Amino acid sequence: MTLQAIRGTNDFIYEEAAKMRHLENVFRKEAALYGFEEVKTPVFEYTELFTRGIGEETDIVSKEMYTFEDRGGRSITLRPEGTASIVRAYLEHSLNTIRNVNKMFYTGAMYRAERPQKGRYREFHQFGVEVMGSNSPLVDVEVISLNISYFNSLGLDNINLLMNTVGCPKCKPNYEVALKEYLNSHKDSLCDSCKRRYNSNVLRVLDCKNESCKEIVLLAPNIGDTVCDECKEHFDEVKKNLDTAKIKYSVNPRLVRGLDYYTKTVFEIQDDLLGAQNAVAGGGRYDNLIGMFNNGKNTPAVGSALGVERLKLALEERGVLALNSAVDVFVVVFKETKDMLLPLLGKARDASMRATGDYNIPSVKSQFKSANSLGASYVIVAGPDEVALGEVNLKNMNSGEEEKVKIDCLTDKLREKSI
Ligand code: HAM
Repeated sequence: MTLQAIRGTNDFIYEEAAKMRHLENVFRKEAALYGFEEVKTPVFEYTELFTRGIGEETDIVSKEMYTFEDRGGRSITLRPEGTASIVRAYLEHSLNTIRNVNKMFYTGAMYRAERPQKGRYREFHQFGVEVMGSNSPLVDVEVISLNISYFNSLGLDNINLLMNTVGCPKCKPNYEVALKEYLNSHKDSLCDSCKRRYNSNVLRVLDCKNESCKEIVLLAPNIGDTVCDECKEHFDEVKKNLDTAKIKYSVNPRLVRGLDYYTKTVFEIQDDLLGAQNAVAGGGRYDNLIGMFNNGKNTPAVGSALGVERLKLALEERGVLALNSAVDVFVVVFKETKDMLLPLLGKARDASMRATGDYNIPSVKSQFKSANSLGASYVIVAGPDEVALGEVNLKNMNSGEEEKVKIDCLTDKLREKSI
């Protein structure tokens, strides 16, 4: 048996896990500031939720899902994204009866069988938000603003916000006709998948990754030119309010996003420093998705999700991902004072300081090395002479300052330091 993680998955060890935790903590704060509440859903669902929700012709559903039969012969899929699950939970628990407008956030692992490369994994993590119950363009702006504000608070700036509108079921067919008309003369040069998509779901041709399809699509008509007045007005309101909030964006008429459920606003936040996988976050409005699972009874909704691994890469690229130290206090003991290790750790912990030591008691030099590698701010040295006098030596690892402290007063002393 080879002891190797599955391709496209990652272990997050110590510092790496601390970075992921830090990003999640800051996200939770930001989501709370915007008045969002947490929803947790399972990592697997019945396959049909995703095939119907995301769309049969999307890359995600047609080639990237981890689908298997459970013991009862039901088709189950590891969630490739969070929106469909949140819609399911919203309907199953009648959340519309609990809040007029539900503002939900979620964090967790998602699964897509894509070809792994930098920034693209088979297990990856998303932080997402979904707002259900309002068709106001102000909500679109709140969702975008939350993302931008979160990125900025972490030190991620110089990112590009791309905006577009993809219309609604009333006006989308006009665009589909226009696009088909345009593609008709290029049909022979389309890839096999797009030849199929031409009939089944022509919009998907716009985000095909095949080079010859990409080239053809360059000159395709703009979806923004064919949308109805209502969709145009909605988009104008979103843009106006982004301007008021001083959020910079550019309109990209080719942006349709890789999931079928979008209506009206779509957006993506890209970071050029990331290379090929440059989308850090994406989202948009999906006013018809809930209705699709609710006998046509629609509830307007809008949301977004950001890729945590990509965000981490973007911050590391800029050297702005603050590292959390593993401990505050490291206790150094000698063979003669080894019985003091646990009581001294206890005193540090009583002062709410994260504390550890080396239970194998190697040389003092080696213990200091461990203290440094763990990022300890203070080292307590329990030398035999000091302990005989009821004292220890307390060293501030940042300033180098040292002082003798009575063991009885150690907790109080450390409490002062932690303020
Ligand atoms: P998405 O664009 O498919 O949208 O994914 C959102 C983000 O997840 C991407 O911008 C990217 O940062 C990250 N991501 C996607 N696939 C991978 C991968 N294989 N490896 C690493 N990161 C990845 C959605 O998932 C929608 N549910 C967003 C949404 C919420 N729309 C409305 N509400």
